[in-house]
Amino acid sequence: MYSKIAGTGSYLPEKILTNRDLEGFMETSDAWIRERTGIERRHVAAEGQGTVDLAEPAARRAIEAAGLAPRDIDLIVFATCTPDYVFPNAGTLLQQRLGCPGGAAFSVEAACSGFIYALSIADKFVRAGEAKHALVVGAEVLSRVTDWSDRGTAILFADGAGAVVLNASAQPGVLSTHLHADGSHRELLFCPGGPGARSGLPAAPAPGFIHMEGREVFKIAVMELGRVVDEALAANRLDRSALDWLVPHQANLRIIQGAARKLDLPMERVIVTVQDHGNTSAASVPLALDAGVRDGRIKRGELLLLEAFGAGFTWGAALVRY
Ligand code: ACO
Repeated sequence: MYSKIAGTGSYLPEKILTNRDLEGFMETSDAWIRERTGIERRHVAAEGQGTVDLAEPAARRAIEAAGLAPRDIDLIVFATCTPDYVFPNAGTLLQQRLGCPGGAAFSVEAACSGFIYALSIADKFVRAGEAKHALVVGAEVLSRVTDWSDRGTAILFADGAGAVVLNASAQPGVLSTHLHADGSHRELLFCPGGPGARSGLPAAPAPGFIHMEGREVFKIAVMELGRVVDEALAANRLDRSALDWLVPHQANLRIIQGAARKLDLPMERVIVTVQDHGNTSAASVPLALDAGVRDGRIKRGELLLLEAFGAGFTWGAALVRY
C-alpha cells in the first residue's frame, strides 16, 4: 500500500506587497532584495483573514482536483506555525469548514518544514491502512508575526496556503520521506511569545515576532538540505539523474540554486515561486507544487524531490512519484 498525490490546490490572499512598496516604509531597496533573495513581491492576508481562511479554498481546490468531495476526507494533517487558535487545532477548524467530521484532524508545528513533516505523517497513516483520502495542508499568516521594523526579516516572510490530497494506492506515490531536527540552534531563528512560556526567561528581542540570524541560518540550511537530498536518493537507490523536478522550500533563490547545482539539475527543472510568494513557511512547498502541476510542467509519472528547512532547526525531504 502506498499513498499517492491525487490532487493539489493553493490559495493566496489578494493583497500584494512589492519590494517597491517596502521601500516606502523601511530602509531597503528592490535591487538589494532581488539580489540577496530573489523575492520581487509577496501576498499578505487582509485584516480579519486568518490561517484557516486561506487554507479552506486551497483544500477545496485540492479535493476537487482529486475528483473527491469533502466528505471523502478521513484525515487532515495541517502544518502551520501561525494557527488561528491555541486550540482547537487548525485541522479541526478546517474539518468543520469543509464539513467532513469523523476522521482524525490535527496540526503539526515544524515551521518551514511543516508541510514535509505533515506529508510524512499522512503518508504513514495511509500506508498503515488508517486513512484512504488524507488532506495535507500548509498554511500561514506570517505577516502577523513579522516585525515590520526589522528589514532583515520583513522582506522575506509572507502569507498563503497549499494543500494536497493523498489517496491510498497500489501504485507507488510517496516513495520515502526523511525528517530531521536539531534543537540546539534555537537562538538563530525563533518567534517568542507562546502562551506556555515560562516566566523569568530573558526578555526576547521582539516578543511575538520572528527573530533570525539570516547568515547563520543560510549556511546550515545549505549544508543540511544537501545531506537530506543525498539521503533520500540513496534510500531509493536512485541517482540524481532520475529526478524530473525539484520542488524546494521557497526561502531564498540562492539556497534553491545551490540545491539545484548539487543535484546537477538545470533551473528549468526546479519549481521556483519565491519571486512571487516570498517565504510562506509551511505553505511554500505545496504552493510551489500546485503551481507546477496547474501550469502543466509537472506531469503524471514524473519523479519529484520535495525539500524544506526551517526553525527548530527542522528539515526534511520527500521523494514522490507524481
Ligand atoms: N535591505 C538592505 N540592506 C539590508 C537588508 C535589507 N532588507 N537586510 C539586511 N541588510 C544589510 C545588513 O544590515 C548588512 O549590512 P552590513 O554589512 O552593513 O552590516 C548587509 O545588508 C548584509 O546582511 P546579511 O544579513 O549578511 O545579508 P545576507 O546576504 O545574509 O542576506 C538573508 C540576508 C536574505 C536573510 C539571507 O541570510 C537568508 O536568506 N537567510 C536564510 C533564511 C532562511 O532560509 N530561513 C529559513 C527558513 S525561515 C523559517 O523557518 C520560519
